[in-house]
Amino acid sequence: MEVMELKHPLIEHKLSILRDKSTGTKKFRELIEEISMVLCYECMRDAKLKSVEIETPIQKMKIGRLNEENYAFVPILRAGMGMLNGVINVIPNAKVGHIGMYRDETTFEPVNYFFKVPKGIEKREVIILDPMLATGGSAIDAINLLKSKGVKKIKFLCIIAAPEGIQKIEAEHPDVQIYCACIDKKLNKNKYIVPGLGDAGDRIFGTK
Ligand code: PRP
Ligand code: URA
Repeated sequence: MEVMELKHPLIEHKLSILRDKSTGTKKFRELIEEISMVLCYECMRDAKLKSVEIETPIQKMKIGRLNEENYAFVPILRAGMGMLNGVINVIPNAKVGHIGMYRDETTFEPVNYFFKVPKGIEKREVIILDPMLATGGSAIDAINLLKSKGVKKIKFLCIIAAPEGIQKIEAEHPDVQIYCACIDKKLNKNKYIVPGLGDAGDRIFGTK
C-alpha cells in the first residue's frame, strides 16, 4: 500500500519550524498536535458514514454521520502522546489505548513495558500514533501486539518516516496504511532519522 505523505506548502512551513533545533518545547508540542490533526483528517478519507436525518434552521435533510466509537487511537509512549490531543480534537469520542515502548540505546530494539487497550478493541479500527518511524521496530511490535488481540484494521500515523521503517512495515504488514507528514532520506549510524527532528520524546517533554 502506498504511503500517504502530506504534500502541502503549509505542512512544509510547519515542518521547517518543527525540525529547527532552536524551536522550544511549547511550540514543538503545538506543531506536533496541529500536524497530527491534519493527518487524522487524511486517514479518515475512507470512513463509512451512517445516513441520519437532521433539521437545519431552514429544513430537514439527510446527512452522513460517523460512529466515533468504532475508532481507537493508540499512542506509542512516550512520544505518541504528543499526537493525541490533535487527533482527539477531531474524533473526540474515539477510545484510547496505550502501548509503552522504548528503543534500547545500544541494540535499537524496542522494549515493550506497557499495554492497555479499550474493551472490544478487536471490533474497532485502530489508529497508531508515533511521531517517528525510524527502523520500524517499535511500529512492528505495536502492530503485532494489536493483531494478537484480534484487531483487523490498523493505520499508522507519524510525522516523519524513514524509508527503512516504511519498507519494514510494507514487508511485514502490507495491510497497514502509513500516513506521514514527510518521508525523510535515511537513518544515521545511531538509527536517528536524517535530517529528522532529533529525539521526538525529549523535545515534546523537554527531558534533555
Ligand atoms: C522513538 C519514537 C518511536 C521509536 C522509533 O521512541 O517515538 O517510538 O523511537 O524508532 P524505531 O522505528 O527504530 O523503533 P523512543 O524509543 O525514543 O521512546 P520515547 O518515545 O519514550 O522517547
Ligand atoms: N526516535 C526519535 O525520536 N527520533 C529519531 O530520529 C529516531 C527515533
